[in-house]
This record gives sequence, C-alpha cells and structure tokens, in this order.
Amino acid sequence: MAAKANGEACGLCGGRTYLIERRGELASARVCTCSVDCPVCGGRGHILVQKEGTFSAKMGARTYDVLEPCVCTLRRTRVALYNDVQMPGVMAHASFDNYRPFNEAQDRGRGVAMHFAHQYVKGDTAKNKGFVLSGPVGTGKTHLLAATLGHLVLEMGVKSRYVEISLLYATIRRGFQDGKSGGEIIGPLSEVEVLAIDELGKGRGSPFEMETLDELIARRYNAGRTTLFATNYSLEPERKGARSSAPSGYRATDDARSAMKDAELLRERVGERIYSRLCEMCTFVELPRDTPDRRRTRQEMDAPPPLGGMRNPGR
Ligand SMILES: Nc1ncnc2c1ncn2[C@@H]1O[C@H](COP(=O)(O)OP(=O)(O)OP(=O)(O)O)[C@@H](O)[C@H]1O
Ligand SMILES: [Mg+2]
Ligand SMILES: [Zn+2]
Ligand SMILES: [Zn+2]
Repeated sequence: MAAKANGEACGLCGGRTYLIERRGELASARVCTCSVDCPVCGGRGHILVQKEGTFSAKMGARTYDVLEPCVCTLRRTRVALYNDVQMPGVMAHASFDNYRPFNEAQDRGRGVAMHFAHQYVKGDTAKNKGFVLSGPVGTGKTHLLAATLGHLVLEMGVKSRYVEISLLYATIRRGFQDGKSGGEIIGPLSEVEVLAIDELGKGRGSPFEMETLDELIARRYNAGRTTLFATNYSLEPERKGARSSAPSGYRATDDARSAMKDAELLRERVGERIYSRLCEMCTFVELPRDTPDRRRTRQEMDAPPPLGGMRNPGR
C-alpha cells in the first residue's frame, strides 16, 4: 500500500498512491507502483461489507452482506477521471505544497484555493463558491488552478475540466468547419461539476467570442455550478485611471503590450453581463503588479555566468 512495511511513506508518491506526470501536451495521472497490487481485496476490486437492516418488524434487524467497490477501484476511477480534465502537461508538477507565496496577495490566493479545495462539498452546487485569480504573468495562477483541480479529482472524485479560453474559441471555430455546432462543444463544459477557465479576457473580443463566453458562463450560472477563473486583467475599478499612464518611449514591445493589459479591467474585457455573474459566483483575489514572474526569476537563476566571468577562468 501507500506506506512501506517499515511505516515510511513511498518515496515516489509520498504516500498519495498516485502520480501526475507530463505525457505530451497533457498532464496525466497513474496509480503509483506502491499501490498497484491491492492487499485489501486481493485484486478483486470489491469487498464484502456487513450491514444491518430491518426488512420486517416481525423478523427484526438482520445482518446481510453487500459488495462495495474497494479503495483500489476508487483510485483507478479517479486516475481515469483526472485524465479527462485536460490539464496542460507543463502543470503536472503543480501542487499546493510547492507553491511559494512572495507577497501577502499570493499567500491569500493560495489560501483561497486551498480552502476551496479542502472545504468542497461534492455535488452541492449551492455551497461551493468559486474564485477568480487576477494577476500579472508567471505568478502561479494556472499553478493554483491545477493544484485545486488535482485535489478535487484525485482526492475527492469530483468531475472537473480545465480550459484555456482562446483554445476553446479555436476548437469551436475548427468544429464549425467539420459541421459541428458551438453547443456541442460548450454543452459538456456547461455541465461538468467544476470548470476552470484560464486566461479569461484573452482573445479578440469578437462577437463570436463574446457570445460563446456569455453562453458558457450564463449556463453555469443558471445551473448554480462552480467555476474557477484566472486572468491577466485587473479586477480593481480604481485602476481605470491607470490608462492615462499608457506606456511610451523605449519600452520593448512585449513590455508595452503587457503594461497596456495591466491598465485594462476584466469588467471591460468581458462586459457587464458576465462580470456581474462572476461577482456572485466567485471570491476575487488580485495579485499586485510587482509580484515576481517565476518564469523569469527561475531563468535568471539557471542562466550561465555573465560573459565577464568567462574571461577569468582561473578560480
Ligand atoms: N508562487 C509560486 N510558487 C511556485 N511555483 C510558481 C509560483 N508562481 C509560478 N510558479 C511556477 O512558474 C511557472 C509559471 O506559473 P503559471 O503558469 O502558474 O503562471 P500564471 O500566473 O498562470 O502566468 P500567465 O499569466 O502567464 O498564465 C509554473 O511552472 C509554476 O509552477
Ligand atoms: Mg496561466
Ligand atoms: Zn507510491
Ligand atoms: Zn482493492
């Protein structure tokens, strides 16, 4: 099982009994080798459980045996369920444990996501308010979405999906060419118990995109389903003034573009109808603009020594 005979947790899975790995484009789960053979059911996949029940007052309470799925069956089902989430492969490593907050807002973001995951009530749409993570690039928003869905699916067996919004638009457009309606693709996403929508606000903002997003969110809102979001666009209304300080001069194009984005509000990107629904569906977390980009800081740490250093090989 998950624990070795000497009581130590498995070195591969740390006692979780499953592993998440990158398999091509997607993150994929599998049962850890420590838990493939099941000592509970001997590989049958189910166990006999004794229950007590009263069928007639005359006979009184009687015990009877029922077959129940063994924990190993549950594990295999959840691993299969994880492989339906369609989480990007680059997120295979993401967990709550390896998320490092650099400021209070990131600490709060992790807290909100962990609280959501740990307090989640399966099947109870009314009880589970989602969250929106807003912040600059490389600050771990997708990481927290991945950790949250990983917990829901593998620890609780909640059917979940991950979708990056601009890829969804592209998939629907491609579907049109094959004679599929947008509804065929939107349908399953409207109905899944928990949906994480990443990169909210991204895209051209065309009528097609706005209608697709409106349909998806309105359907989930009407059904009271839980939805999680990540976005680069700002949530704070007071940021509106920041527009006037639009970038100028010698900024790199990418910097200029991202600075423009900073000044733009999510409310303006998605429109009042969608934003109003988000306010009711979600807790909002905004990471400040100076939160470090982990992609860049990691690269700086891994970078070779500067050229100056190369000229002095003697140590
Ligand atoms: N606070 C953090 N602790 C640990 N790892 C982090 C943290 N923030 C980011 N990372 C890692 O850095 C990489 C980029 O993070 P991620 O993709 O989650 O950023 P993001 O906020 O979604 O960025 P973008 O807005 O560009 O989508 C990932 O490998 C992620 O695991
Ligand atoms: Mg992201
Ligand atoms: Zn293991
Ligand atoms: Zn078993």
